Amino acid sequence: MSELNKKSGSVGVFISIIVVVAIVAAFVIALLVNIFERKVEAKDRYVRVVEVTEDTTDPAIWGRNWPKQYDSYKRTALSTRTRFGGHGGSEALPAEKIKRDPWLKRMFLGYAFSIDYRDRRGHAYMLTDQEETKRHNVPQSGSCMHCHASIMPVYRELGDGDPLVGMNKTHAMSYQELNKMVHDMGHGHSVSCVDCHDPDSMQLRVTRPAFIVGLQKLAESNAPVPAIPSIEIWRQGSRKTPYDPNVDGTRNEMRSFACGQCHVEYYCSSGMPLTYPWSHGLTMDGAEKEWNETIINGERFYDYKHTESGAEILKAQHPEFELWSQGIHARSGVSCSDCHMPYMRDGASKVSDHWVRSPLLNVNRACQICHHDSEKEILARVDSIQQKNHDLLQRGGVALMDLLDAVQLAKDSGATAEQLKPALEFQRKAQWRLDYIASENSMGFHAPQEAARILAEATDYARQGQVEALKLSK
Ligand code: HEC
Ligand code: HEC
Ligand code: HEC
Ligand code: HEC
Ligand code: HEC
Repeated sequence: MSELNKKSGSVGVFISIIVVVAIVAAFVIALLVNIFERKVEAKDRYVRVVEVTEDTTDPAIWGRNWPKQYDSYKRTALSTRTRFGGHGGSEALPAEKIKRDPWLKRMFLGYAFSIDYRDRRGHAYMLTDQEETKRHNVPQSGSCMHCHASIMPVYRELGDGDPLVGMNKTHAMSYQELNKMVHDMGHGHSVSCVDCHDPDSMQLRVTRPAFIVGLQKLAESNAPVPAIPSIEIWRQGSRKTPYDPNVDGTRNEMRSFACGQCHVEYYCSSGMPLTYPWSHGLTMDGAEKEWNETIINGERFYDYKHTESGAEILKAQHPEFELWSQGIHARSGVSCSDCHMPYMRDGASKVSDHWVRSPLLNVNRACQICHHDSEKEILARVDSIQQKNHDLLQRGGVALMDLLDAVQLAKDSGATAEQLKPALEFQRKAQWRLDYIASENSMGFHAPQEAARILAEATDYARQGQVEALKLSK
């Protein structure tokens, strides 16, 4: 090859490189422009036709700015039903839970729940269902409103701007008094946009004071929190300011915190402010420990005395956030919203489905994003978990009824209150565990192994109590 040929050859290569680089550059620029446009599109999908503020609790007003989210939010008024979830599907009040499982009724003798305990239904009904429940035949505290209405402006009003100070006044008010105040101030709405979103930035946030205080107690403990890594990070820091979910929480954690504001075990009565029992961790055992250490009016805390046996009973309430935190999904970073508010495609953008409901009605978007099995197979897996949990629960119910029968026998034989104490302590422990899983609304799905552990303990304690009582009967 001659010198000249070599030169013109390398010029050729040089030119082709320039051409290729130019084409690639043009392509990359076009792509960037495209991505940028889509981002702008995604951000500015909505036009703020109305201003919304911290006091805008009416979701219809927000709906004018964010019609897609509002449309799906409104669908929480539709009735839905799955094998173990939702309510009876009638337009009237939901089906009675205690009629279906008679042992529940006997377990709750002495408590308002034996009067009226229904299946939950959609968010749209949270305020009216609470207003209509027969449980108000016995006086209830204002604390009930915390999770059933868009109450933040009322807390600020009561606390001169500080919502925690405001909330801490409401347990001493009657339900009727606070309910009237909420309506009079124009905030008689179910959980609303402003409860989960900052009105200026639309950022996800939490508002409920009892939840924030509960998380702070959790952070200050040294209980393991595999489901909430930001608490670990806070613990390793200077701890100068208390853990604040709105500052320290990750975006992914916020997608569960939004729900943990209400779907939790709580103390709600006039004796002290609304309390979430997380100072020893998010487990069933941790909550039991905190309640056992709580003294109200000079006595160890109990929710009610059982009418038949006299045992001091702890009533559990819907610990979804807690049970979820013990499961494999939480550990893997799967949030409540991933399953209960999955993304829907809407042109170039994604919209979160605000029709909060059972994911079993929505397997395609709620589960198949991660699990590449057929819908039929996924539903069968869930059903298998729930059926086993249901069977264990019934077993526990039978054991508890046997304990109550044995206590009755012992009483008939003249056993004294002092002699009955050990049996009644077992009743307290057994019932707390049984109720913890019965009142949790996923029928064991949120953490199957943990639910089975708790139910096994419930049955064991019920049988131990039965043995103690039988020793006293002649
Ligand atoms: C991996 C998916 C998944 C995650 C994560 C998850 N759930 Fe669930 N949840 C389910 C399934 C499945 C059920 C059972 C639904 C049924 O039986 O119809 C359920 C049931 C429920 C129910 C009762 C629903 C009904 O229609 O009766 C509530 C309430 C609930 N979950 C709240 C939560 C909360 C709060 C969190 C987060 C702390 C959470 N879930 C996390 C899948 C999930
Ligand atoms: C302000 C309190 C509050 C918040 C926040 C909240 N919930 Fe609820 N949720 C309730 C109440 C109360 C009910 C029961 C309503 C009724 O039965 O009238 C309920 C019912 C439900 C149901 C049953 C729906 C049905 O059709 O049976 C599901 C599922 C659920 N919530 C999941 C969630 C998830 C997921 C989140 C977070 C994205 C969340 N909730 C946030 C209070 C709340
Ligand atoms: C910490 C939040 C919270 C507080 C406080 C609270 N609730 Fe609820 N409530 C919920 C959630 C979440 C549900 C839906 C899950 C369920 O039904 O198990 C619910 C469901 C209900 C329901 C419909 C299902 C049923 O059990 O009949 C009624 C009625 C109700 N609550 C009444 C009350 C009353 C009365 C009080 C005060 C003693 C109260 N709530 C306090 C969160 C709360
Ligand atoms: C119980 C809490 C809750 C309530 C109430 C709620 N949202 Fe959301 N919203 C969420 C969650 C969770 C997301 C997902 C945010 C994320 O992934 O960062 C979301 C996302 C959004 C987004 C961002 C885009 C998207 O769809 O992901 C908009 C806009 C929005 N919601 C509007 C509303 C409006 C309007 C209302 C009232 C009609 C409302 N939300 C009520 C929890 C809530
Ligand atoms: C964001 C991803 C994601 C979503 C959404 C999701 N899962 Fe999972 N799921 C996982 C991961 C991760 C595991 C842990 C096992 C693993 O690592 O493969 C898991 C485990 C499971 C298991 C085994 C549970 C156990 O205790 O061993 C079942 C059953 C399951 N998922 C069902 C569902 C159902 C039903 C839904 C929808 C309601 C769902 N998942 C939604 C990621 C997801």
